[in-house]
Amino acid sequence: MVPPKLVIAPNKNGNSPGDLIRPEASLDDLWKAAQECRGCDIWQRATQAVLGEGSTAAEVMMVGEQPGDREDLEGHPFVGPAGKLLDRALQEAGIERTKVYITNVVKHFNSIQRGKIRIHKKPNAREITACRPWLDAEIARVHPKVIVCLGATAAQALISRSFRVTTQRGELMPSSLAPLIGATVHPSSILRSPDEETRHREMREFVEDLKKFALQLPRSALVPES
Ligand code: URA
Repeated sequence: MVPPKLVIAPNKNGNSPGDLIRPEASLDDLWKAAQECRGCDIWQRATQAVLGEGSTAAEVMMVGEQPGDREDLEGHPFVGPAGKLLDRALQEAGIERTKVYITNVVKHFNSIQRGKIRIHKKPNAREITACRPWLDAEIARVHPKVIVCLGATAAQALISRSFRVTTQRGELMPSSLAPLIGATVHPSSILRSPDEETRHREMREFVEDLKKFALQLPRSALVPES
């Protein structure tokens, strides 16, 4: 598998991803370097850059949209309510969470302030493109066998702009980024379900998608059967 080409686009201040990503950088180095990133304006409203976490030996990489409020404050991806739901779904699907590399398309929390509360704001196409070299650098270091996009933002950035999660979820296809790539819903969408019954159904469908992805994973990435 040819590693994805890094987009090296220096800016005049010397602090775009293209300036900051060194070819020899480890994942830890990337984390440190990303704290200096000024490739777009989102950093101004965020506490810190939050890159992915997991082993470089991970067979599966899950990619969400951007860190949320909790992730921004704590400095770890998927540790808030959506992350807790994802943990439960992975467990139910038999995928070992510790064997997953988990990250986001955008590395800073994009928000608008409403009084004392920060409200999540979807990143726009320019911000997603500006941030992309960080994700490409993570993919080039982890070499996952399977990439799972969580939600439309990740799927449209990594699979195709015309990708529709509602109709194409749960399918894996070959990609230049990894041998297989697919998408399912974002766990936050389940948290936003209008009622209990819908939430249960959406959770069941989410777990079903993850089980389909699990079929393509080696045993070492699965929860051992008891
Ligand atoms: N939602 C995401 O897409 N990523 C996180 O890390 C947390 C919530």
